[in-house]
Amino acid sequence: MKIFNLKLLHIIEALSKKRKEKVFLVGGIVRDFLLGINNKDIDIVVEGNGIEFAKDLKKLIKADNIRIHEKFKTAVLTINNELKLDIASSRTEYYECPGCLPIVYSSDIKADMYRRDFTINAMAFEIDNQNFGKLIDFYNGYQDLKDKKIRILHNLSFVDDPTRIIRAIRFVSRYNFDLEENTEFLLIDAINKNLLSKISWDRLKQEFKILFSDKNIEKSIEFLDKYNIFKEIHPNIVYNLKIKENIIKLQSHEYLLKNNKVKKWILVLLIISENLKKEELIFVLKKFDFSKKFISKFSYETTKKESILKKLMTSTKNSEIYSTLEGVSIELIILIYIQTNENKIMEKIEKYLYKLSKSKPLITGKDLIELGITPGKEFKKKLDEYFMKQLDLELPTKNKLLKG
Ligand code: CTP
Repeated sequence: MKIFNLKLLHIIEALSKKRKEKVFLVGGIVRDFLLGINNKDIDIVVEGNGIEFAKDLKKLIKADNIRIHEKFKTAVLTINNELKLDIASSRTEYYECPGCLPIVYSSDIKADMYRRDFTINAMAFEIDNQNFGKLIDFYNGYQDLKDKKIRILHNLSFVDDPTRIIRAIRFVSRYNFDLEENTEFLLIDAINKNLLSKISWDRLKQEFKILFSDKNIEKSIEFLDKYNIFKEIHPNIVYNLKIKENIIKLQSHEYLLKNNKVKKWILVLLIISENLKKEELIFVLKKFDFSKKFISKFSYETTKKESILKKLMTSTKNSEIYSTLEGVSIELIILIYIQTNENKIMEKIEKYLYKLSKSKPLITGKDLIELGITPGKEFKKKLDEYFMKQLDLELPTKNKLLKG
């Protein structure tokens, strides 16, 4: 497994020497390296000027582009549309009055690490030529990694940043770790103090999306239920065994999502919203920024779910399956697939997704004109009839269709 791009690290090392600035790999990439997991987001902290460092680095490597955030003193380089390099400065400058010279506060890597969420995310690898690859671990993150513990660095961590409540659930679930006792106590305390409602919905929404896109979601949603967090999405979301089973089923059918270009978090959201009334579902979809068009189509189709199921149960011909599912949003089709216990329905949906929906009509408008049919009202109907016939034939050919 290729975990690190060593060549890239050596270029960074050489640049650090040239610029006389210490450089560290930090956060998630260090954690995942120690766990033996690939991670394409490379976070780097420069004890110096991260933006200038990034500009110099861009000249040395084939970065696709560079985005600079002056306000945060960070820059992001993307390489081959695959690797993302986040470069931050551990130095902060601020101005006491407009036009004053900046006061430069040069915090070191230790202070940078202390600002972070959990011990397992507060480790760094040094990338300078003397100590290349040395693990910097002020807060015993490595031990926590071995003990499978998520631990905050200080007691005000959740107060400083309540999104860490959701992040804690993300890491606990993803790696199958446990919350360290005091961390869990403070997490519950933060929830009871309603700190989640103090952060902007935009940030919270982002955390939910990331959480629902991750691994082991059955565990995350159990935590969301246990800590009474679903109410941030909608107070009437009721977690139950069926939802848990559906989430597990979704995870074992992720290929369906990939093959149909559907985002996992969307299906997770729809599954947990299963018991909401129509207008409550609309409220949730609006909160998650679905387009008006999608919301009205999807909520309308949801009211037709029972009749779609019934038709799928009784259909025997391919053309019937096709007519039932044609035009239905892919999200609802996958949702029905996940929610049903009927193998028959699952098989028919699979047939629709992999075969029927991909079929191309053998008889086209040109063929009809050649047959002497003039374009008009009946034209489309005729084409549809041929197509339905085609779907029901074992080995359809143009000839068979035109003769039959
Ligand atoms: N971080 C933090 N508090 C937050 C968000 C981020 O302390 N609320 C720090 C953590 O040290 C984290 C790093 O910033 O490791 C990068 O954040 P992010 O990219 O969101 O997380 P990763 O740890 O890289 O996790 P993932 O693998 O999910 O990307």
